[in-house]
Amino acid sequence: MNTLSLNGVNKHYGQNHALVDFDYDFHDGVYGLLGPNGAGKSTMMNLITQNIPADPDSEILWNGEDIKKLQAKYRRKIGFMPQQQELYPSFTASRFVGYLAALKGIKKEKIRDEVERVLDLVELSEQADQKLGGFSGGMKQRVLIAQALLGNPKLLILDEPTAGLDPKQRVITRNLISRLSKDKIVIISTHIVSDIETIADRILLIKQGELIDEGTVPELCEKVKTGEKNLENLYMQYYGDEQ
Ligand SMILES: Nc1ncnc2c1ncn2[C@@H]1O[C@H](COP(=O)(O)OP(=O)(O)O)[C@@H](O)[C@H]1O
Ligand SMILES: [Mg+2]
Repeated sequence: MNTLSLNGVNKHYGQNHALVDFDYDFHDGVYGLLGPNGAGKSTMMNLITQNIPADPDSEILWNGEDIKKLQAKYRRKIGFMPQQQELYPSFTASRFVGYLAALKGIKKEKIRDEVERVLDLVELSEQADQKLGGFSGGMKQRVLIAQALLGNPKLLILDEPTAGLDPKQRVITRNLISRLSKDKIVIISTHIVSDIETIADRILLIKQGELIDEGTVPELCEKVKTGEKNLENLYMQYYGDEQ
């Protein structure tokens, strides 16, 4: 069992306080990070993955150890799918994932098997030698999920993995994530309730950089004040005044 702890984590971009006194302990399981655009979801993921530094005095611990001290030892445990990522259209799926495997430091002699393994997990084995330029949106997202699975990470961070997908592809991607989430911490961000409602063990609601509520879906639904006790209604309760 792994634990990722955020203790008093803050992030300012100049005057903009994007993440505010964030405290949370993640354990093995699936966590949905829910909130509208600009809430701070990507900021939090970029802090966890050490792509950007947190404000001083913020503390992020992996199994009790400061990630700033663990450095590469920690980064090897992470699989990350950033929100926006370019795919090289002329690369085949296996070449693209193989290239990222090399960057991730996977040993040369292991790359081939590892690429095969992760493409198989996302059900793209048959398309491994096809060029990414011809892939549908859903297939591209699955390639990006595949690269996040390289090296069997214990912490899997997926920033809006269903962005831009049609309903059918959303369901496929959602089921895929659910299947891949054994024995690890999985954090998925989205602004779409139905993406995570059925697969997240716990949901974190973020608004203007603050954690405004968290819990299992049934726990959260109990907090709906009027109407049907569903997560969409809770979302409206918290965010109905935005946009
Ligand atoms: N690189 C950056 N420089 C300045 N401000 C940023 C940067 N990235 C994000 N922000 C701001 O931080 C806040 C949170 O953004 P973000 O983490 O991208 O939210 P989300 O992923 O939930 O849409 C927003 O106000 C956004 O404008
Ligand atoms: Mg974002």
